[in-house]
Amino acid sequence: MNFTAAAMDIRTALKLGMAQLRDAHVPSETLAAELLLLHATGRSRTSLYSYPEDQLTAGESQTYFGLIEKRAAGVPTQHLTGKQEFWGMEFDVAPDVLIPRPETEHVIEVALDRLALRDLRAGHSQNMTGDGLVFADIGTGSGCIAVALAKEFPAAQIYALDISPAALAVARRNALRLGFADRVQLVRSDLFRALQQSQVIPHKSPWFDLIASNPPYIGRREASTLAREVRDHEPEIALYGGEEGYELYADLVAQSAAHLKPGGILVLELGHNSLPAVQPLFDTQDWTNIGVTNDLAGIPRVVSAERTPDGPVGDVRSGDQS
Ligand SMILES: C[S@@+](CC[C@H](N)C(=O)[O-])C[C@H]1O[C@@H](n2cnc3c(N)ncnc32)[C@H](O)[C@@H]1O
Repeated sequence: MNFTAAAMDIRTALKLGMAQLRDAHVPSETLAAELLLLHATGRSRTSLYSYPEDQLTAGESQTYFGLIEKRAAGVPTQHLTGKQEFWGMEFDVAPDVLIPRPETEHVIEVALDRLALRDLRAGHSQNMTGDGLVFADIGTGSGCIAVALAKEFPAAQIYALDISPAALAVARRNALRLGFADRVQLVRSDLFRALQQSQVIPHKSPWFDLIASNPPYIGRREASTLAREVRDHEPEIALYGGEEGYELYADLVAQSAAHLKPGGILVLELGHNSLPAVQPLFDTQDWTNIGVTNDLAGIPRVVSAERTPDGPVGDVRSGDQS
């Protein structure tokens, strides 16, 4: 169907767009049509619903139905609008990064809770600003975790690492646009390797009070079960952790133990079936106070743990950890 040339009001455009998406089995078609119309017209949601009889210009109509067609073909809405909200902020997204997911907000919640609890247990007043604290976000992608932590702790220093230079370019844009570029340092690194090999951080490890990560955790053998929006449009390096999915966690947990200060906190997002493979990695003297947090669907989504105050510290400079 070609609606682009027809003069049309907002209400009709929305209805036709939704119908086209529904026919293509696009999930949440109402929201998708609405977001694409907002994007195509530059209007606010209030204006969209307050003036449904307003006519679209020919240009708006053409842009909107062009976007609807791409969405119907499987392109994620966020790749068409270039935006996704996370932790109350609007992040730029591109095909080079994972689209931030709502469940990843649990990583931030757990990090905040654990840092507050640590202060409480130590009998300190709560360090609300993060003054003197150093955090790491491993596999930063769009930068959403690093930037959310920077927002919550206005004096903390954050290192945001990723193996993908293209992802780091997106994270840099977000850190700049959202006003956190002075405290979010972006580093290209395979897990912690670049920190071990260069003097990115100008003193001796262990450096971090908190390490957070949402690593790639989908199994390649699950690829055929993924939605086409994910499988065909999000970067493989951000999706797949290996054939099974949980392969990256062993290195991530071991290297985190070597880079966390005594009493430091590790917070990791989990795949829907990762917990049985990941929990045993914490059965060492390095870790204490291990916790698992479910997401809203009841799936174990976040594992967190505290570096033991005086457990054995790995030799981070030996190069045998990654
Ligand atoms: C699941 S995405 C998470 C992105 C973002 N943190 C989020 O929560 O939306 C995983 C990220 O890890 C990065 N990555 C994959 N393997 C890595 C490795 N060995 N070292 C560092 N980053 C890696 C990918 O490039 C991707 O940006």
